[in-house]
Amino acid sequence: MTQDPITRLTIRRPDDWHLHLRDGAMLEGVLPYSAAHFGRAIIMPNLVPPVVTAEQAASYRDRIMAALPDGMSFTPLMTLYLTEETDPADVARAHAEGIATAVKLYPAGATTNSASGVRDFDKVRPVLETMAEIGMPLCVHGEVTDPTIDIFDREAVFIDRVLKPIRKKTPDLRVVMEHVTTQNAVDYVRDTHKNLAATITTHHLIINRNHILSGGIKPHYYCLPVAKRETHRIALVEAATSGDKRFFLGTDSAPHTDPAKLQACGCAGCFTAPNTLSCLAEVFEAAGKLKQLEAFTSLNGPRFYGLEPNEETVSLVKGDPVDYPERIDTGAGPVTVFDPGFPLHWRVEG
Ligand code: NCD
Ligand code: ZN
Repeated sequence: MTQDPITRLTIRRPDDWHLHLRDGAMLEGVLPYSAAHFGRAIIMPNLVPPVVTAEQAASYRDRIMAALPDGMSFTPLMTLYLTEETDPADVARAHAEGIATAVKLYPAGATTNSASGVRDFDKVRPVLETMAEIGMPLCVHGEVTDPTIDIFDREAVFIDRVLKPIRKKTPDLRVVMEHVTTQNAVDYVRDTHKNLAATITTHHLIINRNHILSGGIKPHYYCLPVAKRETHRIALVEAATSGDKRFFLGTDSAPHTDPAKLQACGCAGCFTAPNTLSCLAEVFEAAGKLKQLEAFTSLNGPRFYGLEPNEETVSLVKGDPVDYPERIDTGAGPVTVFDPGFPLHWRVEG
């Protein structure tokens, strides 16, 4: 007997374990899209200037809450931007007082607004040791910045050159490899049974490097880490839909205005907040794994972070293609929404 296809799926409200909300008019413009679907999100600290101290994180959290429209609920989980000058005591205080959930490691120059990131990883050892002691996770942008390393190899090289040594010296440190894009990263996480997890974005489950470069250059698909070849995308889909507790959603929704994207040296980032859940339902359905969607979006992340899943639920309902804006207008300028390249039939209810 064949089973009726699923047309309605009710899951615990998802969380986003890697999100860029920016500040000011952009924050006001994009926040409602995340708050509409997600209960909580790990908020990236790469503002200009970056969110380095407990005090800065507390004040950024206040600005996010002030920008939240009346009647919406959303919990920002703040991160501290790790610099070579970061004070371990300040990090410990931010954690103890519930101001910051994690610390973010950007290798200096790896991505948007990462100039204040880390050059010499030995300089941040005291902070990492403190974090290992207090059980505070480190979120890692896992790409080397060595200009001699091909951009498509930077994640794989980072694992060998940076991540393995850090984890060897500080095995008790809880690490999230963020926005993994390669089979290499998936394998590394699968082979590691303690203190390591990975987030996967929506767009990396959908696009490969051809989408960016073939048939004309598509700046709206350009993000960092850059999408890799199709075999890697398939490995990511396999990991995300497997139910393996070490993989969970971090959308890396990263809004930039169209003028900032569409220029000779355009910014990296895909803005997926408005249609992420509809996109993911398509991906999981195509893989025949809709039943694993909840683990990826709503269960595995809280588990790693030592939090309970959200009490509330949302439903995904299959029907006529969903309308979503091609671009949104923010006070900072227009921002193009990620185009998955296929119609989205799953609507989010509640
Ligand atoms: C992010 C941004 O715009 O802040 N860009 C991106 O392509 N993902 C930075 C990041 O997460 O690398
Ligand atoms: Zn990001």
